[in-house]
Amino acid sequence: MTESFIAAIDQGTTSSRCIIFAADSRIVAVDQREHEQIFPKPGWVEHDATEIWNKTQEVVAGALAKAGISRDQLKAIGITNQRETTVLWERATGRPVHNAIVWQDTRTDRLCTELGGDIGQDRFRATTGLPLASYFSGPKAAWLLDNVPGLRRRAENGEIAFGTIDSWLIWNLTGGVDGGVHVTDVTNAGRTMLMDLSTLQWDPAILEAMNIPEAVLPEIRSSAEVYGTATGQLAGVPVASALGDQQAAVFGQTCFDVGEAKNTYGTGSFLLLNTGHRPVQSKSGLLTTMGYRIGQEKPVYCLEGSIAITGALVQWFRDQLGIINTAAEIETLAASVDDNGGAYIVPAFSGLFAPYWRGDARGVVTGLTRYVTKGHLARAVLEATSWQTREVVDAMYQDSGVRITSLKVDGGMTSNNLLMQHQADVLDVPVIRPIVAETTCLGAAYAAGLAVGFWPDLDALRANWKRAAEWTPRMAPEVRDREYRNWRKAVERSFDWVE
Ligand code: G3P
Repeated sequence: MTESFIAAIDQGTTSSRCIIFAADSRIVAVDQREHEQIFPKPGWVEHDATEIWNKTQEVVAGALAKAGISRDQLKAIGITNQRETTVLWERATGRPVHNAIVWQDTRTDRLCTELGGDIGQDRFRATTGLPLASYFSGPKAAWLLDNVPGLRRRAENGEIAFGTIDSWLIWNLTGGVDGGVHVTDVTNAGRTMLMDLSTLQWDPAILEAMNIPEAVLPEIRSSAEVYGTATGQLAGVPVASALGDQQAAVFGQTCFDVGEAKNTYGTGSFLLLNTGHRPVQSKSGLLTTMGYRIGQEKPVYCLEGSIAITGALVQWFRDQLGIINTAAEIETLAASVDDNGGAYIVPAFSGLFAPYWRGDARGVVTGLTRYVTKGHLARAVLEATSWQTREVVDAMYQDSGVRITSLKVDGGMTSNNLLMQHQADVLDVPVIRPIVAETTCLGAAYAAGLAVGFWPDLDALRANWKRAAEWTPRMAPEVRDREYRNWRKAVERSFDWVE
């Protein structure tokens, strides 16, 4: 009998990937392409959505070729994506009306303050689980409707479609101008700030407050169901899942029970804790967000600590400062010294996300003396990731009263041993990485596979999770406490930079 497989597309902030998985969750083939990061002004970040769609098609073709399989052997394809990044396109031509505004972009900062009015940042929190911040898609769509000439009228006439990247890809995959389906899933819709977390529908009052015409919006569906059938190179393959990348990682790490958590280290880092079938409101700067919804089953919710810049700080160190040539070199450089030499870097490039939500923060380097070398700065770059994670873990404890006893990790930076050791040290709990560290793609594949019966149930998925590496804490408590105090002082210095 010919073997069958599931394909997953992970459209991330810096690259697009396609991974083909076998039934035992083994990776059969991977293909990946980077796309351009466009920085038109300080704080602005854009992507070309057409380039993203083209690269997505290339990686699908690349993965099929490397696997040496035909599309008939694919039982389904799943989508996972950078969240919040916003595209508006013409339904008749499929052309984006503007570059996509990326989740890291801060141009809607002022708009968010205006929307908060007298109530402030939490105006929509009870409904959406989110504070008003430039991170989320709704205000980005409002900005486009206000700033692209003639767009609002066309949107009201039904000529324009809004989508996060999942919607954009599904519409294109299922035929685009020739009958593409315009849908999104609950995890992505939940990051627009336009969806009511309890009804899982667009909220009319928020749409009105942000002046967003309903005619632009996709239909909200579950995370695991067949939305449509692919055309083109994947003709006939069911498109059967969509999850924001962080929620896909929750699924791929099989965090199906209340109290299970994972941290994914990508461009940013995102720690999600499964809170079960009820949304839990945060009092400590975390987000209340969807975990996933399988077909018509009860939805699962999470608390999330979102950190905007972690891996992106290593990229900045490489590309903007030129101190290293490859991201992997940072570990060697950091290992050339014993500690950070007193230096701390707070990468508030897009303001600070959890637990602060300070749009006025900007990056700082502190503690410099002539003693500090590029090796110390490399350490400070890596340590910024583990300290930001520590702050999120502390907030989770304040909100839930539950202390984590270990942390499941995944994503590119988990191949950095020095960082993972420091992470275990500053959290004072073991940090554990599974064999398949590509949990984002794996989660999208799992959800698609469940939707078409390729895997029978969650237990079958859980049986595939296997530990590959573990780091145990070994930092002296007094060192940890001193370093944490220094980190917090550095964070305070990043506040109040934007009027
Ligand atoms: O919310 C933003 C997040 O989804 C981006 O993830 O992996 O592309 O940095 P990543």
